[in-house]
Amino acid sequence: TGHFTYDNGFTATASCRSAITYIDGDAGVLLYRGYPIEQLAEKSSFLEVAYLLMNGEVPSKDEFAKFESEVTHHSMLNERFKQFVEGFHHDAHPMAMMMGMLGSMASFYHNNLDYEDPEQRRLAAIRLIAKVPTIAALCYRHRIGWPSAYPRNNLEYVNRFLHNMFEVPSEPLDLNPVAAKALDLLFILHADHEQNASTSTVRLVGSTGANPYACVASGVAALWGPAHGGANEAVLKMLEEIGTASNVQSAVDKAKDKESGFRLMGFGHRVYKNFDPRAKIIREMTYKVLNDLGVQDPLLDVAMKLEEAALKDDYFVQRKLYPNVDFYSGIIYKALNIPAEMFTVMFAIARTAGWVSHWLEQQNDPENKIGRPRQVYTGAATRDFPNR
Ligand code: CMC
Repeated sequence: TGHFTYDNGFTATASCRSAITYIDGDAGVLLYRGYPIEQLAEKSSFLEVAYLLMNGEVPSKDEFAKFESEVTHHSMLNERFKQFVEGFHHDAHPMAMMMGMLGSMASFYHNNLDYEDPEQRRLAAIRLIAKVPTIAALCYRHRIGWPSAYPRNNLEYVNRFLHNMFEVPSEPLDLNPVAAKALDLLFILHADHEQNASTSTVRLVGSTGANPYACVASGVAALWGPAHGGANEAVLKMLEEIGTASNVQSAVDKAKDKESGFRLMGFGHRVYKNFDPRAKIIREMTYKVLNDLGVQDPLLDVAMKLEEAALKDDYFVQRKLYPNVDFYSGIIYKALNIPAEMFTVMFAIARTAGWVSHWLEQQNDPENKIGRPRQVYTGAATRDFPNR
């Protein structure tokens, strides 16, 4: 025993078979169920993409109406969630609250569920997609000291979320269609990405037969790290620290210096070695959204200069490091008045569609068995415990 293939970071191991998302990292191709991300970004909506990821096909009009109505009617939270959120410190990080709140869904819905039943599994997936934005808004409002708000069932998914976040009692909230469209598009681009760290975590937990709420809470935990979904928050912090275009070159130099421990956040990707197709879409969108919203953000200038400086630097060229999906997303979120500590939560809302789709696929898979990697042992050989 002990002679296993050492695959640090799983760069060469397929952990499962999956029919959901396809990535060709060299060609910069990303397909959800066979459909190119560029076409989905242009022609679809996030909720339609969620249906597609879960079910494998684009919904008919009737199928979509039923799905949307189910998601809408599951958007409300049990009132006990209000008491739960009250227990968090006033400045708790929203991702910390998200982990706890999502995990706690198992305490509301687990006892009477039988995951042998495909309909119960589907219902759990719907509940997660429906309630994640409501939970996110509740966490945000707790953090800023606002009263909780109920989701408005007369609004569609993204507008319902924006309303839930920003509604002030008894004041009408003007929802900007440009903002809603931008957020919907960001959600589409973040909805799935095959076996990334958080989805692999969801699948590993799912392989043990744990309930779907526990699986998704573990996905949130994995997403939080700055090497993964936490990067969008880290990018904005980095751009603010750089501050002006004249400081860009020294940031690039620092990122090249391994001793510094500093990396350009929003740069590089495990799979994309040519370009990240999502970044390409977001880049164009950033100009348009800022322009349409009439927002001028000097950080956009810093980001553009940073991208330009890195892309002509040998260090980044040789290592095939390009801006990834998170490089520009934070600038858009900021233009939508979403604060930086909520950026990774935004990613989690979108990725929930992918997580539940992978969980459903795994639970349907007759080949599913518990994920149990081996190791290369580097510790002491057998030795006798000292007599004392
Ligand atoms: N800045 C400076 N150097 C970098 C960077 C960076 N952002 N990313 C990678 N490198 C260097 C790294 O030091 C290494 O150099 P060398 O070969 O000389 O040792 C080489 O490039 C390869 O990097 P790696 O860490 O072995 O690559 P990886 O595939 O393990 O990591 C990554 C991928 C995304 C974690 C990494 O590029 C990174 O830390 N980027 C910054 C964080 C980030 O933006 N993450 C979001 C990823 S996209 C959204 C998502 O799906 O979560």
